[in-house]
Amino acid sequence: MLMPHLTLRQIPAAQPAIAQAPRLHVGIISDGNGRWATSRGLPRSAGHRAGAEAARRVIEAAPRIGIHTLTLFALSSANWKRPAAEVHAILRLLHEYLLTETTHCIDEGVRLSVIGRRDRLPATLRQAIADSEAATAKGPRLHLRLAMDYSAREAIYQAACRFYKVTELSPESFSTVLQEVHRGGSTEVDLLIRTGGEQRLSDFLLWECAFAEFVFLQKRWPDFTAADLDAAVKEFSRRERTRGALPDAIAG
Ligand code: FPP
Repeated sequence: MLMPHLTLRQIPAAQPAIAQAPRLHVGIISDGNGRWATSRGLPRSAGHRAGAEAARRVIEAAPRIGIHTLTLFALSSANWKRPAAEVHAILRLLHEYLLTETTHCIDEGVRLSVIGRRDRLPATLRQAIADSEAATAKGPRLHLRLAMDYSAREAIYQAACRFYKVTELSPESFSTVLQEVHRGGSTEVDLLIRTGGEQRLSDFLLWECAFAEFVFLQKRWPDFTAADLDAAVKEFSRRERTRGALPDAIAG
């Protein structure tokens, strides 16, 4: 719960959400930037810029809310179908984000990784990713994974192609191969949040969301706040995760 008179940095350590739902991997499909901008008579790129601000707020709040890994969908492989000008604006924004936020990540103990294909990204962005990953590699508080040119189906397909050559066949070893394809690791998602009113996965973390809890919000991504993240984690902590087994009350 965010108290109106406190800034994020002043929030006491022992918040209820931390006690109830510690150490989560949260995935976020940050949808609604374009509609946010259009509804204000602004270009879509302004919505993406406001979306990057929302990402900053959420990343800063995440460790205090009990999140150890946060995966944000920054650019889907399907987004190449958008007009080139919009895609370039997003790529520029992501580059700028890495240049300005790396120092902040180091200060905040955030380890930054990028998952997805890199070969279609501009070389300057690839270099910024490598620099940022190297500079933040020891961050102990939060693993921030930015999905760029990311397609879960493509990652699974690539892992299957590599797996074909592996001798020991098991779901665990498949996950290991998928981690190699992802670069930034591949861990089970506990909570998947999607903003912007749509209720679909859009090729995001298909393997990792097998037992995830879903929270769908009408709110567009640029309006998403730390309080919304806290509320989603609290909603998560009220749910019983059976993973196919019987709920405790019935199992006895
Ligand atoms: C979805 O909104 C957002 C994107 C396709 C890409 C850009 C994402 C960000 C800028 C947020 C994360 C940023 C950083 C720096 C981590 P949309 O354009 O699909 O919105 P719409 O559905 O309203 O058109």
